[in-house]
Amino acid sequence: MASSPALARPEDGNTIYKYKLPSFINSMIFRFALSLAFVAGAVVTAGVVSTQALLKEQQDSLLVQELPAQAVFPGPWDRYIQAPANKAHIRPKAIHLSNGDVVNPSAVLEGGLGSSTLGAGGNVIFDFAQNIGGRVCFQVASVVNNTFLALTYSESPTYATVDGDATNNNKPTDLPLYFGLRNGTNCVGTGFIRGGFRFLSIRLPLDPKEDKGFWDTSSRESVTDASKRDPGATVSLTELWVNCTAFPSNPNPRAYTGYFSSSSNVLNRVWYAGAYTLQLSTIVPTQGGASIDYNAIVDGNKSPVDSWYSNFTISNGTSVTTDGAKRDRMVWPGDMSIAVPGIAVSTRDMVSVRNALDTLFAHQYGDGSLPYAGPPMGTIHEFSDTYHMHSLLGVYNYVLYSGDLGWLEDHWYNYTVALNVSIAKVDNSGLMHVTSTADWLRSGMSGHNIEATAILYDVLQKSIELAGFLGDDRSEAQPGGLWSKTGDRIRAGVEKLDCPRAGLFADNSEDRRCGGSDEVLPQDGNSWLLLAGVLAPSDPRRLNVSKSLKSRWTKFGPPAVEAPNIISPFASSFELQAHCAVGDHDTAVELMELMWGYMLDGPGMTNSTLLEGYRIDGSVGYPAYTHPARNSHCHGWSTGPTMVLLTSILGIQFTAPLGRSSIIRPHRTKWLNHVEGGYSTSLGKFAVKLKGMIGKGAREAEVLQVLTPTDTSGTVYWGGNQTVHNGGVLKVARYLDSPGQWITLLNTTDYGDEKDDTTWATDSEGDGEFLPDTAWVKPSSSEREVGVVNWSLIKPIVVEEL
Ligand SMILES: *[C@@H]1O[C@H](CO)[C@@H](O)[C@H](O)[C@H]1NC(C)=O
Ligand SMILES: *[C@@H]1O[C@H](CO)[C@@H](O)[C@H](O)[C@H]1NC(C)=O
Ligand SMILES: *[C@@H]1O[C@H](CO)[C@@H](O)[C@H](O)[C@H]1NC(C)=O
Ligand SMILES: *[C@@H]1O[C@H](CO)[C@@H](O)[C@H](O)[C@H]1NC(C)=O
Ligand SMILES: *[C@@H]1O[C@H](CO)[C@@H](O)[C@H](O)[C@H]1NC(C)=O
Ligand SMILES: *[C@@H]1O[C@H](CO)[C@@H](O)[C@H](O)[C@H]1NC(C)=O
Ligand SMILES: *[C@@H]1O[C@H](CO)[C@@H](O)[C@H](O)[C@H]1NC(C)=O
Ligand SMILES: *[C@@H]1O[C@H](CO)[C@@H](O)[C@H](O)[C@H]1NC(C)=O
Ligand SMILES: *[C@@H]1O[C@H](CO)[C@@H](O)[C@H](O)[C@H]1NC(C)=O
Ligand SMILES: *[C@@H]1O[C@H](CO)[C@@H](O)[C@H](O)[C@H]1NC(C)=O
Ligand SMILES: *[C@@H]1O[C@H](CO)[C@@H](O)[C@H](O)[C@H]1NC(C)=O
Ligand SMILES: *[C@@H]1O[C@H](CO)[C@@H](O)[C@H](O)[C@H]1NC(C)=O
Repeated sequence: MASSPALARPEDGNTIYKYKLPSFINSMIFRFALSLAFVAGAVVTAGVVSTQALLKEQQDSLLVQELPAQAVFPGPWDRYIQAPANKAHIRPKAIHLSNGDVVNPSAVLEGGLGSSTLGAGGNVIFDFAQNIGGRVCFQVASVVNNTFLALTYSESPTYATVDGDATNNNKPTDLPLYFGLRNGTNCVGTGFIRGGFRFLSIRLPLDPKEDKGFWDTSSRESVTDASKRDPGATVSLTELWVNCTAFPSNPNPRAYTGYFSSSSNVLNRVWYAGAYTLQLSTIVPTQGGASIDYNAIVDGNKSPVDSWYSNFTISNGTSVTTDGAKRDRMVWPGDMSIAVPGIAVSTRDMVSVRNALDTLFAHQYGDGSLPYAGPPMGTIHEFSDTYHMHSLLGVYNYVLYSGDLGWLEDHWYNYTVALNVSIAKVDNSGLMHVTSTADWLRSGMSGHNIEATAILYDVLQKSIELAGFLGDDRSEAQPGGLWSKTGDRIRAGVEKLDCPRAGLFADNSEDRRCGGSDEVLPQDGNSWLLLAGVLAPSDPRRLNVSKSLKSRWTKFGPPAVEAPNIISPFASSFELQAHCAVGDHDTAVELMELMWGYMLDGPGMTNSTLLEGYRIDGSVGYPAYTHPARNSHCHGWSTGPTMVLLTSILGIQFTAPLGRSSIIRPHRTKWLNHVEGGYSTSLGKFAVKLKGMIGKGAREAEVLQVLTPTDTSGTVYWGGNQTVHNGGVLKVARYLDSPGQWITLLNTTDYGDEKDDTTWATDSEGDGEFLPDTAWVKPSSSEREVGVVNWSLIKPIVVEEL
């Protein structure tokens, strides 16, 4: 939203102001007018200033690669950061299970002393207390005979058994990895990075001839020959650790560039779980491709279908963001709309994003379409209309947060070719007629589909902005040009899908239409309709759609009815944005607490990373797969709250790359007494603090502080009022004068002693006119029914792309 229409959008308030303005406020209003003129001028004259701007932006983009050595916003919230300080040496925290011939298993735990001994038949399942990833290493004090261990892994406590969980879709669990031990340090081979696990099972087979797994021959080759294996093997371990190679971009994985803190402990944990999920899903490009049956398309491997390893090269560069930690460990465009902004506001690892986008563009097909996913896909024309467009949204997000206009310029031609592919599919109906059934493994993607159409609407708006960033005055990007005209046709086209009886829109104009043989009123498409802004801001149906989506929520979240039995954190991440888009921030936060809270504390959760999806009854199987243990419990597309809390609840939204201009539109919501957070770019820190207070005469009051970097500007919208920000700290307070009537005090000094951004992290209001509201209590939320699984629909789904 770079251009002035966004600035003109009315704020949600219905507030009446009747305060006599002090003179400094009048002068601020004057400056606001100037600033509006400046912003509008910058858009109009972008072509003129572009050369200089480009040079500057290119210099800035170099800074993007220089990530900070320490957290940019240090504070008490750092205790929520899950990334381990020493990721090369992660020790287990607890014994989940010990069985058979095992002596003193806790010796190898963090802080343990002495040694643990396993004899034939001994099995220990270790718990790392959080999802982690990497290569397992053992310090062996002594071995007797040809000892080998069978290793299995599980992310979820549900599969923390001797069999572990699954990577591929062919068998309920993976084969165990057999690993021979010798004295000293033993680490599994470099290919055997298990990208996501909280539990590790080690078992010393009772039968020395056992051969039901696959072998890591890197450690002790003689053991692979069953005839050379003797009975009576034992091993004594003094240490067990995991060497994690995820998130390679920053040597200090705790050097976060953003933060979040609020009166809700659940939201705080959710925000940091999202950030950590994104870190664990960011990998060394030569350590990818854990779904080896996909790899076979390219490398022709004949590995057993239930074996696994992760040594496939999925991109160029040194670090790349992928869909998930355990699997697929591939570049997936579905991550570009949720994961990329999440990365931008937490670790600012934009290099990993750029490498992912480069991979997708490197595999652009001759007809301009972009691959469904990066290698091993992209070789046999795997394609999805929606994922194609997510890649284009990834370009926008990358450029907005990195400021890398040089990269945009290099890819701009190919971007516009790709955009034409989507535009060409909008037919006379004004809807996009999709040609591929592939999407996020939801069913029914075909025909004139609402989700695809609404995503295209968003892509078109953002393409116009991108052209503005580049100062490209091509006719397509002009008012009335191809891009905005296509948007107009889409606005007219979606009317065919309206289903007023339900207050929602239908999935397509074919079988899934309103009143059709298989009517579907999808979560994804209705969410996209709102978040892309397809319906005009004044359209009363917007609130209706938001309310209708909410009315379907179950105890564990909203059903994604377009993919039966599924609660999808991916589709729900779009629903969060949809409620915010219509100004119902209360509902967005309520959904985070309900659903993402469950995703941490519910049975079968890792309580540290966010899973790919789950069943409507709350169980952790993801119905898109034949085998429930295949679910990924660390999936970047599930991290919606990490971006939404900062960009929509605290409301820090960039309107130009790097935040050179921004709109700040904070919302405390009824669920929070205190909420604050921020993120940074190479220009500096953007942050917002919002607190419930008690004003004079025990009146309800709120204070707001906004921090922006110097040399940036924009508008703060709050409680029905607006003002400029021009860098530095802005303090605003308001109190309820009489029912419904708020008094706003702009840039007030009536509270607080936070003088500049160096004390930003401290937490004191001083003893001014406003006092902390210690009596505040969080409202209670409604109870909802548990969804019922339709088991007749839980059946093998053929993976569409193969
Ligand atoms: C972890 O792995 C890296 C690279 O694979 C290696 O350089 C390092 O020595 C390992 N550290 C430990 C403690 O195993
Ligand atoms: C392993 O170490 C133990 C204890 O130090 C020693 O007794 C044994 O001979 C070593 N075995 C091998 C194969 O090196
Ligand atoms: C190790 O294997 C040898 C050869 O099979 C056997 O004689 C010996 O008893 C085994 N050691 C133990 C401790 O069982
Ligand atoms: C990956 O690991 C598998 C299993 O060890 C091996 O067969 C394959 O050659 C390796 N591929 C590469 C590229 O190293
Ligand atoms: C690396 O870049 C080259 C040149 O663009 C490209 O041909 C190759 O496919 C890329 N590798 C991957 C894994 O994307
Ligand atoms: C853009 O597409 C052209 C033609 O397909 C190709 O040669 C070029 O390498 C692409 N550029 C990028 C940056 O991917
Ligand atoms: C996209 O399509 C429009 C209209 O058909 C055409 O004018 C334009 O040249 C196309 N752009 C590219 C990059 O192919
Ligand atoms: C709003 O939704 C309700 C059903 O929830 C419906 O009765 C009403 O007609 C809808 N209004 C509009 C404007 O679509
Ligand atoms: C999850 O971890 C938090 C600490 O981060 C703890 O307070 C909570 O009890 C844990 N939940 C479960 C279900 O173990
Ligand atoms: C708030 O906005 C109203 C109109 O929307 C305006 O009359 C009033 O002066 C503003 N107050 C401040 C403090 O800016
Ligand atoms: C708010 O007041 C502080 C001094 O208290 C000043 O430094 C800052 O520039 C002001 N901000 C705005 C936007 O006027
Ligand atoms: C389960 O789904 C099938 C197929 O759509 C449908 O016929 C059946 O009525 C559903 N059962 C229940 C209990 O909803």
